This record gives sequence, structure tokens and C-alpha cells, in this order.
Amino acid sequence: MIDNREHSRGPRRGQAAHQLKSRTLRYAHIIGWGMEVPSQVLSNTDLEAIVDTNDDWIMTRTGIKERRIAEQRETTTSLATRAAQKALAIADVLPSEIDLIIVATATPEHMFPSTASLVQDYLGANTAGAFDMSAACSGFVYGLDMAASKIQTGAINTAVIIGAETLSRVVDWADRGTCILFGDGAGAVVIRGSDTPGGILSSVLRSDGAGWDLLTLPTNGSRDTYLQDGKHEMHRIYMDGRGVYRFATKVIGESVRDALAQVGMEPDDIDLLIPHQANQRIIDYAAKNLKLPPEKVYSNIERYGNTSAATIPIALAEALDENRIKTGDTLAFVGFGGGLSWAAMIIEWTAVPGKSQYSITWGRRQGEYALAGVRRPLRRWWRQLILLSPTTWIAALRKALADRRADIQTRAEDIQHRASQIIDRDEKRNRSAKEDEE
Ligand code: COA
Repeated sequence: MIDNREHSRGPRRGQAAHQLKSRTLRYAHIIGWGMEVPSQVLSNTDLEAIVDTNDDWIMTRTGIKERRIAEQRETTTSLATRAAQKALAIADVLPSEIDLIIVATATPEHMFPSTASLVQDYLGANTAGAFDMSAACSGFVYGLDMAASKIQTGAINTAVIIGAETLSRVVDWADRGTCILFGDGAGAVVIRGSDTPGGILSSVLRSDGAGWDLLTLPTNGSRDTYLQDGKHEMHRIYMDGRGVYRFATKVIGESVRDALAQVGMEPDDIDLLIPHQANQRIIDYAAKNLKLPPEKVYSNIERYGNTSAATIPIALAEALDENRIKTGDTLAFVGFGGGLSWAAMIIEWTAVPGKSQYSITWGRRQGEYALAGVRRPLRRWWRQLILLSPTTWIAALRKALADRRADIQTRAEDIQHRASQIIDRDEKRNRSAKEDEE
């Protein structure tokens, strides 16, 4: 059993985990979890006003009742940051202790910078590496596997893995076959190294790029023929629903069995399966295939729809809130989606939930968030003003001097011009006075 307290002392700032421990394989344990969903709800009845559909059709074919939609001010980054902060609070970990941040997302704010870099800045995790994971709905399991591997080798000690999406911004709201499925949200976990056995036990990552066009979200680098066929446009989701359904039902059972086999387990050993929440019919099929009773399969698709990379960490956070997981349980995660890609993972659950958030670390964590808020504008200002290179400074000075010289010259010419006008005028006056006298 892992007490979170055991992990709260990370390596000192800048001190790599491998300097503390010999390079024997360690274990990566989930010690914190959190989720964040927008408050705006879009129900099936609301959708009836947007496309030709109805609650009965959506419920029967997908099991979805409602989904969350981000408001204008909410972004993939803001949802991801909030979920990560909640996970850090449960883990009682400081941002300065994080070595790596991975954000699995299909809806980043930019191709670069990564959403993970923005989250790193908002958290004030100043000694963390950060990158985005692009593996569509399998991204969270892929990211968790990458971070766990680095912990197991002793290269790092603490990582935050987030699945975050704002799919409502890339859904074709005129396509009733896809817009009914997707929603927005984020979920996060904190993982940390330990010598106590357990945590992430095994994983299977797979891909079949030959099925790339079954589920796509084209962007500006897409092949011309795809974007010029009159059917597809940039930043819109396209899906062959039946093709994806067939693919998903085929790979879920296979990949979970493969991940179980790596640690000598059978489907019967699973206490809770947390599958990607794409469609209740797919979840039911997976349960049947693995011969798991309904109480061993977690589903919250009814309330959130498909939030892509975020479904598994959101489901994990809710399953823990509902006391569906206890220490020593064997969990199975399975994700599948665009790529085509799929991934399964087996975990021995070791964390002890329910610690008070109001510890000394809580105060320090709030302090680090506040410092991050101050540091952001200061660093930008510093970069713009102070970190200009000497040559840039000299060039700027030369330009200012040249501008000043040109300005003085213009003014002198102006004065000279006006003076000659006055002289001309006076000469003219004198001449006409003389003529008048004569
Ligand atoms: N409301 C009402 N009718 C709809 C509809 C909607 N929202 N969407 C499609 N229909 C209609 C179709 O037009 C079609 O009508 P037709 O028979 O008159 O042509 C009929 O319903 C059946 O369409 P079909 O696409 O064959 O339905 P389906 O049973 O395959 O269900 C999905 C569609 C999308 C729910 C299902 O294919 C699915 O869930 N696939 C997997 C998708 C997925 O999980 N994607 C994410 C993976 S990460």
C-alpha cells in the first residue's frame, strides 16, 4: 500500500531522480487525480434545435444524454491547468517538484507552443519539461505510458499527465452523425516514482495508419486532395461512424488481454475497467467480450459524451469520488481513436485518497501559483527590454541619433526657408515703397 505522504518529499530542485537512487527499476504510482469540465450543458433536447435528431435516437445509439461545452473564455489550456491543480492538491505535490508535463490533446490552442508549455507556465512548474501528445483518444494512455517509463528508469521522479479537449470548436455542427457525440473537458493525474511494487504494471500501444481517414481533423498541412475534394475543410472533424465502431469493438478486447498477459493476469482479475467513453454500445460490447459484469466497467458517457483524450482521466476521477476503487484493486484503461491508434494499460491501485487539502504544502502551492502569475509578465517584459543583444542596442541607438539628426536638419531647412520668405517679403515691400515714393 502506498501512502501519498511517502511521496511528498521529491528530489531537491534541479536534482535528477537518478542521482538519488541507483538505476534499478522503480515503480510509477498514480498519487493524484482531478477533472475540470465547463459548466455549460448541451442536452440532446438542445441539439434538436440545431440538427435533425432526437433524444431517443441519440440515447439508443450512443448512451449520451448531455455534454459540456466550453464558454468563450475557456480553452484547452485553462481546463487542463485547473484539472492539474486539482490533481496536485490531492497528491499534495508542489509545482516546483514536477519533472515532466504531458498534455494529450487533439485540440491544442496552437500547433506550437504546446498546450503543455502553457500549462507549465500557469502552474509555475519551472523545472519541468513539457510537450503535447498527439494520439487522439488514445493520447492519455500513451502519455501515461511515456511518463511512467521515464519514472521506472529513474530518469525523473514526478510527472503530470493531462487529457484535455475543446472539441466543440472543431465539431461540424451541421453534421448530425458527429456533433451529437463530442464534448469538452479535462482530466489529470500526478504520478511519482517509488520502490514499493505496484502502480503502472504494463501497457500496450498500437497504431494502424492505413485507417487514417476513418476519423480525421485536417489542419493546414493536410494533403491537398483531401481538402480540395469539396467535402472536407480545415479544423473540422470527419468520421466514418460504422468503420470506427467496427475497429473499436475489434481492438478493445485484444489489447486489454495483451496488457494483462504481460503481467500474467486474466480478464477475471480486473476490478474496474475504465474504457474510453466513445459510445455506450462499444463499452457494453467490451464488457461482454471480456466477460466483465456491469459493476466492473465504468461509464459516465451519459453526462459528458466523448471528450477524446480526456475521457479516461475524467472517468478515473469520478470513479474515485464514487468509491468505486479501493487500494489493491486492479484497473484496466483502454483508449482507441484517430490514427487509427489504441492503447491498453494495467494498474495496481495503491493511492490512499482523502487527505486534507489544507496542509502547509497547500499554502506553498498557492504561493507558487501566485508567483507564476507575477513571473509571467515580468519575464516577457525582461525579454523584450533587457535581453536585447548589444548589436540590437547599438543599432537602435544609431537609428535614434540618425532620426534626431534628420529632424534637426529638417527644422533648420524649415527655418532657413521661412527666413528667406521673410527677406523676400521685406524686399518686395521696400521695392514697392520706393516705387510709390518715385
Ligand atoms: N439523429 C437521427 N438520425 C441520425 C443521426 C442523428 N444524430 N445520425 C445519423 N442518423 C441517421 C442516418 O442518417 C441514417 O439514416 P438512413 O438510414 O435514413 O440513411 C441512420 O440514422 C443510421 O445511420 P448510421 O450512421 O448507420 O448509424 P449507426 O447505427 O452507425 O450510429 C454512430 C452512428 C455514429 C452513433 C455509430 O456509428 C458510432 O457510434 N460509431 C463509433 C463512433 C465513435 O465512437 N467515434 C469516436 C471514436 S474515438
